[in-house]
Amino acid sequence: MRKRMPISYGAKHHPPIHLLREHAREPYLPTTFGACVDQIICADAEVALRGLPQQSVQCIVTSPPYFRQRDYQTNQQIGKEDSPDSYVQKLVSVFRECHRVLSRTGLLWLNLGDKYDEGQLLGMPWRVAFAIQKAGWLLRSDVIWHKTNAMPASVKNRPTTDHEYVFMFSKSPDYFYDADAVREPHVTFTERSRMRGGRGHFGKRGGTPEKGKNGGNPNLHTARWDQAFHPLGRNKRTVWQIPLSKYPDAHFAVFPEKLVETCILASTRTNDLVLDPFIGSGTTAAMAQKLGRHYVGIDCNEHYCALAIARVQEVQPALGLV
Ligand SMILES: C[S@@+](CC[C@H](N)C(=O)[O-])C[C@H]1O[C@@H](n2cnc3c(N)ncnc32)[C@H](O)[C@@H]1O
Repeated sequence: MRKRMPISYGAKHHPPIHLLREHAREPYLPTTFGACVDQIICADAEVALRGLPQQSVQCIVTSPPYFRQRDYQTNQQIGKEDSPDSYVQKLVSVFRECHRVLSRTGLLWLNLGDKYDEGQLLGMPWRVAFAIQKAGWLLRSDVIWHKTNAMPASVKNRPTTDHEYVFMFSKSPDYFYDADAVREPHVTFTERSRMRGGRGHFGKRGGTPEKGKNGGNPNLHTARWDQAFHPLGRNKRTVWQIPLSKYPDAHFAVFPEKLVETCILASTRTNDLVLDPFIGSGTTAAMAQKLGRHYVGIDCNEHYCALAIARVQEVQPALGLV
């Protein structure tokens, strides 16, 4: 992938500015970009996004409210629509604004879970994914988030659901993706491998175990070197096994930090700006700060905005964050 050009934020240092709606005029529309950085904006996502400049963020990691799942107790909340179609259209509008504010080389990571209605699975994540794709996004990957500690369910006539989707979207085929930052352990060959030629060749380009029992296997030659012997591990796979997380005072399932960390590391560099237009308890902002990235978080519920602000204030920003 082509490396992306650094984004300039117009100011070198951005002290955290946290605006709650009672401190701002309604609707909240930031006037300068510097004022949006490292900030939690309490407003409707689409309205707040309109106040951000185009191509200003490098990555978006978000989990919108699921269709008819929860009451977030605000008039602007998404998820209470009458039909799946109107829910999908609402999200398309939000992600149209996300498309505008994302850098040309940026990525959107969109987490969504499905829902049963009258005994049928709605296929909601895919309905949203296809609608967003139709609106101009490139669907580059679907990731299965396997929730290793999912609650047992009482269903006996179908398998118990223990996964959700994370879709990876780009604006163009030419985006920033740091494969090395998110490699995972090899499973076929490890440093401890006893296979002849395996241990001695581990981590050396071209050092395939040609004299081992798989000698002559073209899968082990240079083209597949990454897969079998890269010293940092094999390329990230599309099934991520990550337990569900809880955060005190959040009445919904929050993002696991590991999931957000993977998305941020794969699609940003130090000091890049990460956006979550449905910030909830602030996981994306907290992880961005922990990893030396800047953040912008948006939520229409003041209680959750306050929670997110408190959460980022607990995080020690990574060294090197300017
Ligand atoms: C699934 S939760 C996000 C959880 C978050 N990923 C975390 O780790 O805590 C969805 C959030 O979207 C917010 N929300 C719902 N409708 C919204 C809207 N129209 N604009 C902005 N935020 C909204 C809710 O208040 C809720 O906090």
